[in-house]
Amino acid sequence: MLKKVPMRHVVQVQDFRNEDISRLFELTSAARQGLLKNTLRDANPIVCSLFYEPSTRTRMSFEAAAIRLGCQVIGTENAAQFSSAIKGESLEDSIRVISGYCNAIVLRHFQDNTAERASLVSRVPIINAGCGTGQHPTQAFLDLYTILSKLKSIEGRSFALCGDLKHGRTVRSLAYLLGRYKIKGIHFVAPTGLEVEQDIKDYLTRHGVLYQELSSLDSIIESVDVVYATRVQKERITESVYQHVQYPYEIKRELVLQMKPDALLMHPLPRNKEIAEDVDTLPQAIYFEQAENGLYVRMALLHMLFNH
Ligand code: NCD
Repeated sequence: MLKKVPMRHVVQVQDFRNEDISRLFELTSAARQGLLKNTLRDANPIVCSLFYEPSTRTRMSFEAAAIRLGCQVIGTENAAQFSSAIKGESLEDSIRVISGYCNAIVLRHFQDNTAERASLVSRVPIINAGCGTGQHPTQAFLDLYTILSKLKSIEGRSFALCGDLKHGRTVRSLAYLLGRYKIKGIHFVAPTGLEVEQDIKDYLTRHGVLYQELSSLDSIIESVDVVYATRVQKERITESVYQHVQYPYEIKRELVLQMKPDALLMHPLPRNKEIAEDVDTLPQAIYFEQAENGLYVRMALLHMLFNH
């Protein structure tokens, strides 16, 4: 019998306390060693994967995570067209109905605040898998897990977050998460017009985290511990704005060779032109391992939700 799952939504990284994150990462390491396989087989919960926006890694790793744990998966990868949304049904009505069919809903949506809206009407936990330009909490958890697994510590580390910082939800969630730790600081490197939003700066200021805004990586590349590159979010800007975006950085091999040997080059993926392919073989390039950790973090998260 499935235990009654207490209502526990994962809408933003702030929904998790530091001790929840420590527990999540212990479970992630267990998942990585194969120790969580089939742990939900008897309970056999149904996870609904409800995606209104394209996804490769997030959807497939959530679904694979659920299956590996022994859950069943229902859902749609194109809810905007293949659900009753196309018939004019509101998100709230869809969630009211779907939450009667399953034990958790993994939601991706193109609009901001949709995970929060869903959580207000859902009878089962809502897990935000990236909504609009808001947050993408499970990406930030897997990013932090990857950083900790490589660097062992986060205190005193410096970060460069690059790319479309205005629309990038991965950067928003990561910045909110990093802001809780005693890091050395964050350099935000964005093209003109796509700079980091005020809510993130206010949050970091409130938490006493130093940050600066730069237009290039050149002056900091030798000293940072983590470079986190992101693509320009083409789908959230007009074609003419996109054509005029000047990349402040194109991470080439020569640039990465200037990084500290144990520094990390990360990317939530998909990449466009931000990182040259011949960078992939350098030891700093860990984005594919980062993506793989998504599977384990999501196994850990579902395990935590259903074993609360
Ligand atoms: C990101 C997203 O969807 O926000 N992708 C992902 O989940 N790894 C990043 C992006 O689309 O640029």
